[in-house]
Amino acid sequence: MSNILIIGGTKGIGLSLANALAKTNKVTVVSRESSDELASDVNHVKSDVTKEVFEYEGDQLDGLVYCPGSINLKPFNRLSIEDFESDININLLGAVKTIQANLGKLKKSTQASIVLFSTVAVTQGMPFHTSVAAAKGAIEGFGKSLAAELAPSVRVNIIAPSVTDTPLASKILSSSDKKEKSGERHPLKRVGEAEDIANIAEFLLSDKSSWITGQVIGVDGGMSTLRML
Ligand SMILES: NC(=O)c1ccc[n+]([C@@H]2O[C@H](COP(=O)([O-])OP(=O)(O)OC[C@H]3O[C@@H](n4cnc5c(N)ncnc54)[C@H](OP(=O)(O)O)[C@@H]3O)[C@@H](O)[C@H]2O)c1
Repeated sequence: MSNILIIGGTKGIGLSLANALAKTNKVTVVSRESSDELASDVNHVKSDVTKEVFEYEGDQLDGLVYCPGSINLKPFNRLSIEDFESDININLLGAVKTIQANLGKLKKSTQASIVLFSTVAVTQGMPFHTSVAAAKGAIEGFGKSLAAELAPSVRVNIIAPSVTDTPLASKILSSSDKKEKSGERHPLKRVGEAEDIANIAEFLLSDKSSWITGQVIGVDGGMSTLRML
């Protein structure tokens, strides 16, 4: 049984991951509001990571997953500096502060693993993504550098999803028509489900990925690598 901390495990990808892990692990979830969809044996703590730094209460932490993110899509000239600051705060600085506060406890584990989230838009250059792509590009650079610094004691990997059906993406997938059109743009002809991404996070936390670190793993229906003729 491992001790796992999931920041943002009450909705979307984090919720799916928390409930899957709770069957065999001691899971703590942090978010601003609780959720009655969370498995009953998950320990939930209310906290806003943009306002306070969360420190795990146990002695040792085996896995840390940082889920909070944003999809603030606007033309560049309509994005304010506050939009950029807000995206950097939630996507990057919240993760940086959480990892700093919990690194000592992660280093006590023999199998520590950190999982962070980017987006397919970092490598694909999509219009209206300047703010979120900047913040997520920063997370990729941060995560890879940290992986080098913390090897061999702590592994750090980053998942880069394409559009996935979660509360975060509810605006862009607000009708079955939008969902179908978005799915059609992917070589695998559908948008992601929370479980598609959570499965990979679960793998990256487990011993089955013990020789993987410093990777940005696209879980994106083929969007980042395939061109269909
Ligand atoms: N869904 C997609 O299409 C997509 C695509 C590419 C990348 N991603 C990335 O994948 C990650 C997970 O996305 P998701 O779609 O599962 O997100 P989501 O549905 O918005 O869930 C985010 C979770 O984080 C919590 N959270 C948000 N702000 C917080 C704060 N300030 N303090 C504490 N907890 C906070 C939320 O709970 P509360 O609101 O109660 O705090 C919730 O549990 C994100 O980093 C996102 O950028 C998602």
